[in-house]
Amino acid sequence: MFRALLTSRLQAAFSAAGIDLPEGFTPGVVIASDTRFGDYQSNAAMILAKQLKTNPRALAEQIKAALQVEDLCEKVTVDGPGFLNLTLSAAALAERLSVIVKDDHVGVPPVAQAKTIVVDFSAPNIAKPMHVGHIRSTFIGDSLARVARFIGHKVITDNHVGDWGTQFGMIIHGWKTQLDQEKLKADPIHELVSVYKAVNAAAKADEAVLEICKGELVKLQQGDAENLGIWKECVRLTLEQLEKVYGALDIKFDYYLGESFYNDALAPLVADMLNQGIATISDGATVVFSDGSVKPENDPFLIREKDEWKAAPCIIRKGDGGFLYATTDLATIDYRVKEWKADEIWYVVGAPQQLHFRQVFAAAQRRGVTTKMIHIAFGSILGPDGKMFKTRSGETVGLLEVIDEAIERARAAADEKEQGLSDAEKDEIARIIGGGSVKYAELSQNRLTDYKFSWDKMLSLQGNTAPYLINAYVRTRSIFRKLDGAVTLTDDLAITEPAERALAMKLAQFAENSHDILDDHRPNLLANYLYELASAYHAFFEACNVLRSEGTVRNTRLTLCEATGRVLKTGLGLLGIQTTERM
Ligand code: ARG
Repeated sequence: MFRALLTSRLQAAFSAAGIDLPEGFTPGVVIASDTRFGDYQSNAAMILAKQLKTNPRALAEQIKAALQVEDLCEKVTVDGPGFLNLTLSAAALAERLSVIVKDDHVGVPPVAQAKTIVVDFSAPNIAKPMHVGHIRSTFIGDSLARVARFIGHKVITDNHVGDWGTQFGMIIHGWKTQLDQEKLKADPIHELVSVYKAVNAAAKADEAVLEICKGELVKLQQGDAENLGIWKECVRLTLEQLEKVYGALDIKFDYYLGESFYNDALAPLVADMLNQGIATISDGATVVFSDGSVKPENDPFLIREKDEWKAAPCIIRKGDGGFLYATTDLATIDYRVKEWKADEIWYVVGAPQQLHFRQVFAAAQRRGVTTKMIHIAFGSILGPDGKMFKTRSGETVGLLEVIDEAIERARAAADEKEQGLSDAEKDEIARIIGGGSVKYAELSQNRLTDYKFSWDKMLSLQGNTAPYLINAYVRTRSIFRKLDGAVTLTDDLAITEPAERALAMKLAQFAENSHDILDDHRPNLLANYLYELASAYHAFFEACNVLRSEGTVRNTRLTLCEATGRVLKTGLGLLGIQTTERM
């Protein structure tokens, strides 16, 4: 908000001062990293002076003279080699504060141009273990979708579940020979995965079993009624259980269009790509080769081997007629573009699938797709020992296990702190803190780096954790509880103390932060912001007595508490984390 306002004023100052801007140069203002000189800063004069070969300080002074910001700033200075530093006035900050406590969107303006964005995330594979990659995808994707929606985009969330594939040959064979119906009823995902694992192991040891599985798969693909029935039941049971997990995590999908949804579109798609000359037959398979339109190092259909570039085609149909993951993704893009008029499609999928997406995007573009497609990649989660993350039982971790364990641990912590809460209240708090802690541990990390999973750290009340942030929110609420709701906030505000000012400044910057997150699809920018906000609140609370103050001072401080509560709740909500009134 302030940044956008100050930027437009700065640009106006350039033209008022009669300075012609060179092509491709837009003067900008950023939040100051060192607030000793001001709240916002611009280095535009320095950059321009270099290009124009003039004195940067003199240029900065010239801009300063033309800059009209009396309504926003109390001070504008030229510092160092030619920085323009801007200090907001207390009145401008107070005005923002009034907006934050009244506005549904806590003062965050909508994007100038709303787009239709499809967010493809979570997408586990039926009857295969859900792994940590799916956990990361689920939390990052959900958060990005929430942020995009919040700032005014039209968002469609689609869970592209892996509900079709070679694993079903094994599942169907296992279903017919060794499935435990009781266990299936109790925990379908777990039972299907263990049947899959057992048959997979048997097929590895015994060629005959492998052949039977292949036979079951072919029958399924040819539409055999019994096998189709089993497949349908597997999908139904899994989705039912998944929806419960998503429900507990407060995650919703607009669609569950799994891979199987596109089955009928695959053959025509391949035929079309052959017709258009985008694909060719090579060794019996249908593949997409490089068209030489980009430099080899940027070409997803080439790979460097020793000193030579070799073809690395994308296969869309195997020699035996089978279709592949890439084929389904191409059909999925068609659907999303045609049916949903997607302007952008975001794929929140682990870094190992980078080549897959580069090839699929390039192939789709050759088919004339202009929709912006973005692979939002992420690294792995490591155990506290720095190795692959495992559960207590020593298995690779699934989403279900992690969430259950987090809630269990949060419940134990709630029990330790006896404070007159009922069992039902404690259960609800444990659900919010447990789920929130796991989400926050994920979302506070730079998505591209691997991070260590540590129960103790993520559930701690101290540090950059969900419990710390939720606790800050609870503190804002407890003040109003002490006042028994007998408080009416007014616009009579006066920000005077440094701790009040620092908190008001942080609150105002939520408007900028919530937009910046999507520049590079990084929820950790929001997490870091909320942590800084909670710390600023803490500092304010230490320095400024709220309940014993009076008049305008009291009104200002209560307004700061209310605004902090609102921004924390909204911001945590954008991370998919709920808040509780007590804990
Ligand atoms: N099911 C895939 C996996 O587990 C992820 C799907 C991601 N989305 C997509 N459109 N390919 O690896």
